[in-house]
Formats: sequence, structure tokens, C-alpha cells
Amino acid sequence: MIQDLMSSLRFFPITMRSFIICFFLIGIVHMHAQTDTKKKEMFVRKLLKKMTLDEKIGQLNLLTPGSEILTGSVVSKDVELKIIQGNVGALFGIHGPEKIRKAQELAVNKSRLGIPLFFGSDVIHGYQTVFPIPLGMASCWDMEWIEKSARMAAQEASANGVNWTFSPMVDICRDPRWGRIAEGSGEDAFYGSRVAKAMVRGYQGDDLSKNNTILSCVKHFALYGASEGGRDYNTTDMSKIRMYQDYLPPYKAAIDAGVSSVMTSFNDVDGIPATGNRWLLTDVLRNQWGFKGFVVSDYTALNEMSEHGMGDLKNVSALALNAGLDMDMVGEGFLIHLKNLLAEKKITKQQIEQACKRILEAKYSLGLFEDPFRYIDEARAAKELMTTENRKFARELAARSCVLLKNENNFLPLNRKDKIALIGPLANNKNNMLGTWAVSGDPQQSITVLEGLKQYCSARMISYAKGANISDDTTFAKNVNFNGVRIDIDSKSPEQLLEEALVLAAGADKIVAIIGEASEMSGESASRTNLEIPESQKKLIRALKKIGKPLILVLMNGRPLVLKEENELADALVVSWHAGTEAGNAIADVLFGQYNPSGKLTISFPRNVGQIPVYYNYKNTGRPAAKIEFEKFKSHYLDESNLPLFSFGFGLSYTKFDYGELKLSQKVITQSKNIKVSCKISNVGNFDGEEIIQLYLRDPVASISRPVKELKGFQKIHLKKGESRDVTFTLTTEDLKFFNTQLEYLAEYGEFIVFVGPNSESCREAKFIFGPND
Ligand code: NOJ
Repeated sequence: MIQDLMSSLRFFPITMRSFIICFFLIGIVHMHAQTDTKKKEMFVRKLLKKMTLDEKIGQLNLLTPGSEILTGSVVSKDVELKIIQGNVGALFGIHGPEKIRKAQELAVNKSRLGIPLFFGSDVIHGYQTVFPIPLGMASCWDMEWIEKSARMAAQEASANGVNWTFSPMVDICRDPRWGRIAEGSGEDAFYGSRVAKAMVRGYQGDDLSKNNTILSCVKHFALYGASEGGRDYNTTDMSKIRMYQDYLPPYKAAIDAGVSSVMTSFNDVDGIPATGNRWLLTDVLRNQWGFKGFVVSDYTALNEMSEHGMGDLKNVSALALNAGLDMDMVGEGFLIHLKNLLAEKKITKQQIEQACKRILEAKYSLGLFEDPFRYIDEARAAKELMTTENRKFARELAARSCVLLKNENNFLPLNRKDKIALIGPLANNKNNMLGTWAVSGDPQQSITVLEGLKQYCSARMISYAKGANISDDTTFAKNVNFNGVRIDIDSKSPEQLLEEALVLAAGADKIVAIIGEASEMSGESASRTNLEIPESQKKLIRALKKIGKPLILVLMNGRPLVLKEENELADALVVSWHAGTEAGNAIADVLFGQYNPSGKLTISFPRNVGQIPVYYNYKNTGRPAAKIEFEKFKSHYLDESNLPLFSFGFGLSYTKFDYGELKLSQKVITQSKNIKVSCKISNVGNFDGEEIIQLYLRDPVASISRPVKELKGFQKIHLKKGESRDVTFTLTTEDLKFFNTQLEYLAEYGEFIVFVGPNSESCREAKFIFGPND
């Protein structure tokens, strides 16, 4: 066919020829996709015809035998029998090819129709090779690296039998009290949308039926990150404009990237729990956004609607199916009640059939009907997990995720000649390297900072002491240690621990203290009202400061912390988050300048819990605070500035970057004419380094009050010492759009301000006009 086309094209000019060929090839790809969809639909239609009502309902259940970490109190019973009876569509919480093979064999060989199961897992930031927590990873602002992390996680997870991940978590959060802030990418919808896309692409690749790509599940739909007071599972309430503008975009971005499944959230949205919210699951998700995949509830979220006040299990099961839920995680409300609800005409046969169809189509896309054991290969599991290559990637990504917040007198990078006292409860603590939601990672395989630093300095040049417990509070420790010991209160007294550290510190040239949160101080059901590092560690830092040696603090944390005091005491401050398997190596690379830090925050660090919510894209108010100091009758606090301690986009390097004046290609943007915004960036410091250049917009006069700044673009560049480069962004009218009071997404004519800079606070700016086409 191609030859025929080529010969009939020989009379056309070359440009025309290439155009026709491209068009032709796109047509073929499109045709293939259509045929595939048709084949899938035909297959599923035929299968549905063979299925009994019970078997259709059976597919709508995700169960867990409970052999792994649970995130709720309910565990599924008689799972094997239920599989054989065709009452199960998917399993999660079982790991490893052997167990997974056994379960798949039951489904395929023992159930009447032999429909294969999905095997889900929380593959959140890596699988066995654990990468930094998502909030940490987000600090690298590099979508290629983020996508690759998901690709690698899918490769490992699929090698171990998993074909469905409950990730990405894209809940926007402006409240660091919420422990699950660790799992998302921060406070900004534009940035969060980019990450959402990258993650979905990474997990699902370009062909779901390959044995190393897996289904992705975007969660938690919706608004989970806005729970009141930062308390997990709490109520959310916000205007539709805020939802559409600031909270929904990342979910939509995942849908646009082709995510196969969506998980509902635990909270209510406008009074109705998300799992039974028809507006959310049908009007928005399906009708407005065109989502074609399936929707799964969160862990017993269906049952929990009863506690929300929506009636008994039967009632809420009807509510959920009517709303558009396809699969019930663990709760078994669907399994127990759908048949009766149908008899009572509270739901329809078509609804059950529709949900079942969506699930079967996803199984088809994974290639499970062709080969149910496609993802179960013991040989792969032995070869592809925790490879040297994966660990190397994890190390580099963890270094890229570190954010340098302060570096007085250039105390960093360290010198190999420096005699170092390494102090702190997190300096040599394998149990806290991986961070929250690392269910498949092995803490014992992780590298501590002490181990990492030893690659750079001889034993003679480094000494180590714990110095303090992560916390001395036994009740707090008990709460944190629910799933295993993370806060290990030492048999030595706090005084003795401190004394040992002070002796070492006195004999060193520099003190490096590794402090912060235990890994389970953030994550699910790990909200905090106090965002300071625990008092035991504060005492340690104060005492170390008194020694009078340069004090370098490295934070391990799952959320923004209140670091006002630490920032005053420390000479240098690095946020390393919970950095995963290679934490210690990566931190050592950063401290010794093997990697020049380039990470920037994607979340504001408050000065004080009372400032929360504090975020960069706030609105001006009618009485904006012009100055940092208090002014009566302006929007201020009596006792604290409005600004965070470290703002969105902030992060330093060992080198220094200068930003030139902004240049605009023209002063007017129209539907048909874009504007190019350029800025010269120069590396004027002493190291080669990477810089993340951020572009923000402000629409000062509009039909609704708009934020003082909104991120609309970013670029990461590498500049050698002494090098300069012009960085150019292209703005289109798409970048000017927002949701108005009618929830129409549009741009309004008028003046705009564009900002370009190294963070959201210190930018160069220029103005332009949006007007009609000439
Ligand atoms: C509850 C969590 O909210 C969700 O994120 C997770 O995927 C499920 N449990 C399954 O572990």
C-alpha cells in the first residue's frame, strides 16, 4: 500500500508529499486505534452475554486478604471461595508472583467463566527501589525524571505481578497539617497537572498490554487535600470557582493523559460524600471530562457513607452505583446488596452492566484475556527488582529532590578535609529513610547518611552520635509506631544522648545534624497540629549551636515544617524529604557538591501554624498588606508577617544565577498572535549548576478577583560557571484563561503582568495587553 502511495505521489512537490504521507500515517494509526476499540467492545459485549447477574456484580469488587499493611479496620473474608464463585474483580495487598499466580489460577481455572483478576498495589514513589516521597520528587521540577520514576516503578511492580497502581495522588493541598501532603506534588494546580500527566504516562506507557506497563489510578477524587483543619478524612467545603480553578485541574490532567481508573476520596464534596456524589462522578468526570475508564472507591469509602449520614449499607450502595461508582474497595456493599436493590428497582440492570463493562474493558486493555499470567513471571521478579541501574536512578533523583534553603558563608559544599560530627536521630536510621507509602520497599536495603558520607570521608574524619530521640513523647511515639517502630526511644537517657553528641561536636570542624520527622509522622492518618520538629531535637540543635562550629542542618520530612528557629540557628539548611532507598548516598552527594542542589519547593513553608493556609497564589484582598511590618487596617497579623518562611518555587544552589530584564516580542497578545517572553539567565557563581526558571501571570482587572500570581510555565536549564543563556517562554491566550462565575473557562481582554524569576517572590516583571485580533 505504501509503495502504491509513493508512486502516485511522485508528481507532487516534496513538501506536499511529506504532508500527504504524514496525514496517511496518522490515518493508519487512528484506524488501528479504532479497530482495537471495536475489537475490545465486541469481546466484552460477547462476554457480558455469557455472564449471570451475580457474575457481573462479582466483577465490581476489589478485596484484600489482609496479609499486608491495611489502611482500614475491615479485611475481606473467604477470599478464595469468593474468587471461585466469581465474586471478585480485583485483589490488592498480596505481593510476589507466587501468591499472585495462585490467586489468578483460582480465578482463571476454578471460576465458571475464568475471568482474570487485576492485582492492585499502592506503588506510590517507586516499588522495591523507593524514590523520594512524591512531595520531595516534585521539587525537581523535571517531568522527564518524574515520568521515568513512574516507568521504573511500573517495570518493577509488573515484574512482581502487580498490574494496577493506586497512583498518582494529585490532591492539591495548602495545609501542611495534613499528613497526606507528602503524597502529592504541592499547592499548585498548574504544576500538579504537569506531574499528574507525567506519572500517568510513566505507569501506562504507550501500550497497556505490554507486560511492563500497568493501569494507573488517579486519586483521590476529589478535594481530599482540602480537609478542614488538615485533619485526615475531614469535611471539605469550597466554592465551585475555587474547585475548578485550584483543585480539579490535576485530576483532569490525568484523565486527559488517558488514566485508566479513578479513585474516589473519603471526604464529602458539597455535602455529599465523593463516593456517592453523582455530580462529581458523572456530571464532571464523565459528561464534562469524557472519562471512559472505571471508578473505584477508596478503602471502605462506600460503607463509610453511612457514618457520613447517608443511610445504611444498602442505601449507600444504591447511592454509589447511581452516582457512577464502578468498583467497591473492600466494603462488599455492592456484593451484598446490588441484587436486591435491582429487584426493588432502586438501581438498573444497565448500571450494573455498564460498571462491569468498564472493568472488563480495562482487563482487555491490559491483555489479561489474551494471557492472564502476562504479569506473573518469577524469572522477571528475580532479575528486574532493585537493579543497580534502578538504584543509581533513585540516587540521582533523590539528589535532584533536595532543596537548599540556606547556605551562609558557603559552608556547603563540605570539603573532604573537614572533620565532621554527624549528629541526629535520623543520621543512621534505616527505618525512616523510605518515607510513607513504601509498602513494597525494604527499609533494611536503604542507605543512611552515615553510610553515604563514609564514601566521601575516611573513618577518621567522621564521627557519629544520635544526640536525641526523634521524640521523647511516648504517647506520640505509640501513635506513630502503629505499623512498626519508627520512633525508637533509646534506652540511654536524653541527657546522655545529648552529652555524647556535644563531645563529638566539640572536636569537629563542622557539625552536620540530620533531623526532622519519622517517616510515619506524615502519610495517611498522620495529621499534626504542631509543625515544629519535636522538642527533643530542638533541644539538641540549640545545644549544638552553642558549640560555635558551623552547623549544617539536613531535614528529613514528609511535609513543610515550621523552621523559624532552626533557620536562625543553622548556617546551612537542606530539605531532603524522605528520600527513599538511596537517601544517604544522595544526601552525601549534595553535601559534598558531587551534585549541586537545584530543587525548589512546590509548597510554602509557614513561619507559624497560625498562618495556614499560606500559599503563593493568594488573592489581593481589598486591603492588601503593602509592607512586611504591621499596618493597622491592612490585611495583617499582629504577631507575624503574612509571608511564608520559604515560599513556593524557592531553592538555592551552590552557584548564583542572575536574571536580566524581561523582553517581550510584542506588547499585545491576541487569539492569533502569541507573545514570546525572554530573559537572560547568567551563572555568575563558582559552580556549574541547574536553575529552574519560573513564569507567573497576573490578571489585575477581571470579572472576578484573581490571584496576585499564578504559575504558567517553567524551564530547567544547566549553565556552566560563567555561562549565560536567553530563556524564552511562549504565551498564548490559553495561559490567560480562568473560570468565571458561570464556570466558563475564558480569557478576558485587558492588561496582564508577566513575572519571571527564580521563585514566586523575587521576579522580574513586564506588562502586556490581551486584545482582539487586528
Ligand atoms: C486508603 C488510601 O486512602 C488510598 O490512597 C489507598 O490507595 C488505599 N487505602 C489502598 O491501600
